[in-house]
Amino acid sequence: MSEVHISVHPLVKCKLTQLRDKATGPKMFRDLVRELSMLLAYEACADMEVVRNQVATPLATMLGWYLKDKVGLVPILRAGLGMADGVQDLIPDAQVWHVGLYRDEETLCPVPYYNKLPDKPTVDVCIVLDPMIATGGSAVATVDSLKKWGVKRIKFIGLIAASEGVRNLNESHPDVPIYLASLDECLNEFGYILPGCGDAGHRQFGTG
Ligand code: URA
Repeated sequence: MSEVHISVHPLVKCKLTQLRDKATGPKMFRDLVRELSMLLAYEACADMEVVRNQVATPLATMLGWYLKDKVGLVPILRAGLGMADGVQDLIPDAQVWHVGLYRDEETLCPVPYYNKLPDKPTVDVCIVLDPMIATGGSAVATVDSLKKWGVKRIKFIGLIAASEGVRNLNESHPDVPIYLASLDECLNEFGYILPGCGDAGHRQFGTG
C-alpha cells in the first residue's frame, strides 16, 4: 500500500473551498491551483535529501543546504499545467516534462497524445502533477511511462481525488506516495468527482 497524505493544513482547506465554489472565475481558479500546488509540494518534499556546501553571504561563508537530487515535474496536460507553475517556483531548477493524455469520454480510459521523454532518464525523482484523480487511469498510465523511462522514485500530487482513483493508483504502483488536498466521496456516471470542483481544465482555461 502506498502512503496517501491528505493535507490537514487550514490554508489548504480554505483555498480548496474557494476552488470548489462555482462562482470562482478562471483567474482566481488558476491562482488557487498554483497556491494549493505549492502548499502540497511543500509537504511532499519534506523527505527530500539535501547536501551541505559552502555559501558566501555578503559577510561570511557558511555551510548551506542544497537539494541532492535532480527533480522532474511531470504535469499531465492540460489540467496539470497550472500546478507546474507553482511547484517550479518552489524548485526553480526542476526539469518539466509534459505528458499529454486525454480521457475518452465513453470508456473513461486515458489516450496518450504527447510524450517526448528522451531515451534515458535525466532526473532522480519525478513529481507527477494532476489536479484530479478520478478513475486514476491517467495517473497509472503516466507512472507506467515514467517507470519505463527508468525513474525509480516517483511522487504524485493531486488536489482532489476519488477513492476509486486512489485505489487504482495504489494497486498499480504501491511505491508511489500520493499527496492530496481532499479525498472526495465518489464519481458520477460521467466520471466526474463528487462534490469535486467540476472540470479543472475548463475552469483554469475558461473553456467550459
Ligand atoms: N477531471 C476533472 O477535471 N474533474 C473531475 O471531476 C474528474 C476528472
